[in-house]
Amino acid sequence: RKGGFPHYMLKEIYEQPQSFYETSRAGIDEAVRRMILEADEITLVACGTSYHTALVFKYLAESLCNIPVRVEMGSEFKYFIPPLHGLVIAVSQSGETADTIAALKMAKARNCPTLAITNMQGSTVTRVADKTLLMRAGPEIGVAATKSYTAQLAALMQIVNLRCEGAFDDVLSHAHLAIGEVLLLDLKEAVALCSKAEHVFFVGRGPFYPVSMEGALKMKEISYVHAEGYAAGELKHGPFALLTAETPVVAICTPGPTYDVMTSNIKEMKARKAPIIALGAAGDTELAEIVDIFIPLPNTHFLVQVLTASVVLQLLAYHTACTLQRDVDKPRNLAKSVTVE
Ligand code: M6R
Repeated sequence: RKGGFPHYMLKEIYEQPQSFYETSRAGIDEAVRRMILEADEITLVACGTSYHTALVFKYLAESLCNIPVRVEMGSEFKYFIPPLHGLVIAVSQSGETADTIAALKMAKARNCPTLAITNMQGSTVTRVADKTLLMRAGPEIGVAATKSYTAQLAALMQIVNLRCEGAFDDVLSHAHLAIGEVLLLDLKEAVALCSKAEHVFFVGRGPFYPVSMEGALKMKEISYVHAEGYAAGELKHGPFALLTAETPVVAICTPGPTYDVMTSNIKEMKARKAPIIALGAAGDTELAEIVDIFIPLPNTHFLVQVLTASVVLQLLAYHTACTLQRDVDKPRNLAKSVTVE
C-alpha cells in the first residue's frame, strides 16, 4: 500500500504534483464562486498545518487582491471571538478537528456565510458549513500533513486567482511541474546538518514566513529536533541570543521585494556563526556564495516558489527524521485528527 516507498509520508510527498494539479483543475462551483466574489472581508479558522496555509492565504489575498483577511486558530477563536463580518472559511484536511468545528459553529451563530475547505467529503465541517470547496488530495495516512497542505494551497490559490480575475491561470496550471522538479533535489548536506542539531530556525518573509512556520512544525513533529519558524526580521528581537555554530538556520530567500533585506538578515545571522541553509532561485550565485548550503528552487513565479519551498522543507524534515530513526508515519504523542477541544 505504500507503493514501494518506505513510508506513507514519502509516498504522499511524491503525490503532490498530482494532488495539486487535481485540486486546481477541479475548479470552484458557481455557488461557491458567488460567495467568494461577494465577500468584502474573509476570516479563516484552522489549526496546525491548516493554520499555516490560512496564513499564506492572508499574505496572498491582501497583497494581490486587496481583500482584508483575518486568520484565527480554532482553539483561540472559541474563547475570544473577534468582531465578525463577511465570509468565514474553515480550513481542515480531516474536517473533524474539534476546535475548527467549534469556531465554525460560532461563525454560523453570528449569521456569517461559511465555507469549508476540506479533503473529506461528508465530514463534519461539510455538514456545518453552508458550502464546501473540496480538495482532491486523496487519503492521507501519514500523521504529518504533506499533500493535504499543498492541496489546501491549491484551493486557496484558486480563490486568490478568482478574485484576481484569472490573472494566475497560467502560473497555477503549470505549478505541478515545478513541484515535481524539487522532489529530485539532493538534500544530503542539509539533512546532515539538521540531524546533528538540537535547534533549527526557519526564516522567511511575507508568505515565506508561514512557509517557515510549517517547515519548523514538520521538523519538530517527525524528527523531534526543536525548530522554530520566524519572520526573518524578528530574529534580532530576541532569538539571536540562541544563534551559535551549532544552530542551523534555514532561510528562504527568493527574488522579489524582500530579497535584499533577506540577504542582509542572512549576513547578520552568519556573523553570529549560524550555519545557513538557503533556499533560493536556481542560478543565484550571489546568494550561494554567502551561505553554507544552497538549495536551488526552479526559477518560477513566486506563487510557485511558495509551493516548491514548502515541499523542500517537507523532504528536509522527512530525511532528518529517517536519519534519526524516528517513527515517521506515527510520531510520538500525535494523532491524525484532533477530535477533542
Ligand atoms: O485535519 P485538520 O487540517 O483540521 O488538522 C489540523 C492539524 O491537527 C493538522 O494540520 C496537524 O497540525 C498536522 N497533521 C501536522 O502535520
